[in-house]
Amino acid sequence: MASSSLPFDPARIAPEALPALIERCPKAELHIHIEGSLEPELIFELAQRNRVALPYASVEALRAAYAFTDLQSFLDIYYAGASVLLTEEDFEDMALAYFHRAAADGVVHAEVFFDPQTHTARGVPFATVMNGLTRAADIALGELGMSVSYILCFLRHLSEEDAFATLEEALPYRRHFIGVGLDSSERGHPPEKFARVFARCRELGLHIVAHAGEEGPPAYIEAALDVLKAERIDHGVRCLEDPALVARLARERVPLTVCPLSNLKLCVVPTLAAHPMKRLLDAGLVATVNSDDPAYFGGYLNRNFSETFGALPSLGVVEAWRLARNSMEASFLPVGTRRELGQQVDAFFAAAGG
Ligand code: ADE
Ligand code: ZN
Repeated sequence: MASSSLPFDPARIAPEALPALIERCPKAELHIHIEGSLEPELIFELAQRNRVALPYASVEALRAAYAFTDLQSFLDIYYAGASVLLTEEDFEDMALAYFHRAAADGVVHAEVFFDPQTHTARGVPFATVMNGLTRAADIALGELGMSVSYILCFLRHLSEEDAFATLEEALPYRRHFIGVGLDSSERGHPPEKFARVFARCRELGLHIVAHAGEEGPPAYIEAALDVLKAERIDHGVRCLEDPALVARLARERVPLTVCPLSNLKLCVVPTLAAHPMKRLLDAGLVATVNSDDPAYFGGYLNRNFSETFGALPSLGVVEAWRLARNSMEASFLPVGTRRELGQQVDAFFAAAGG
């Protein structure tokens, strides 16, 4: 029998059954930078295909460089890795590799960031990026049954003028992305810097998200909400430093796309055991689990779940259900589809412990 507030009885699910349940449960991934899914093997393959010289002798040497001390130390290597992407086929291959991995992890819907300025600054046309990504998304839907939407991210270390120029280039491809986000170096680049370009994006009917409260202070989360009108906050873990902000995020049901392995690898938390995932859920926040840059941070979506649940014994089956459900609620899918996917999550847990 299910309890009154849950669609299943948690007592009927043995703790040993939880890892397999989490692995197979339908989930949405809402915070993945497609350039961050570029595995070292593919970086080397594309470098060879495109005759791009890499400052690393081997896949192993490149992987060995993935020892980050903060966000910037990661971004330096991440932008260098993206330099091998030149043709539509490269973008398609990269995205397809991610979609296959995500589908194997039970991802039924993904909202995927891309960083056009990283490519247009190197002379790669916006059309090349978007055409390759769009082809991959069509294949994901047709062959994997996984729906994909793209979110164009502006690089916050660049100027608002540059963001406006990027938006202009993107407009002929408006139907290929559903929203805009803000990523790259957070500290010293507050949301206010992009107030006007995000206002224009809202006029265009685009969804709005922003990285905030990863390394930056809670005030950046507030500015993302108040100035950019963000509908979702990417990371947002530093909200816990401001109880009034936590209360607001909970009251307004603003989702946080949290990325535990990223937080560990970029030293946002000292250990996974110290990760605030349980505290975020207990505060009533619509927190979700995501992989951010899985090729750089040691794992795709299921690895983020398994390592986090392994490190935090206070996370159990109710939290697993809640996180999967939150991922559907927090997506930008039509309301009816969100409800349907939420019911699929409920049915999955009910079948395991009805
Ligand atoms: N770009 C790719 N990953 C990022 C992250 N975790 N924070 C900010 N910008 C990013
Ligand atoms: Zn991110």
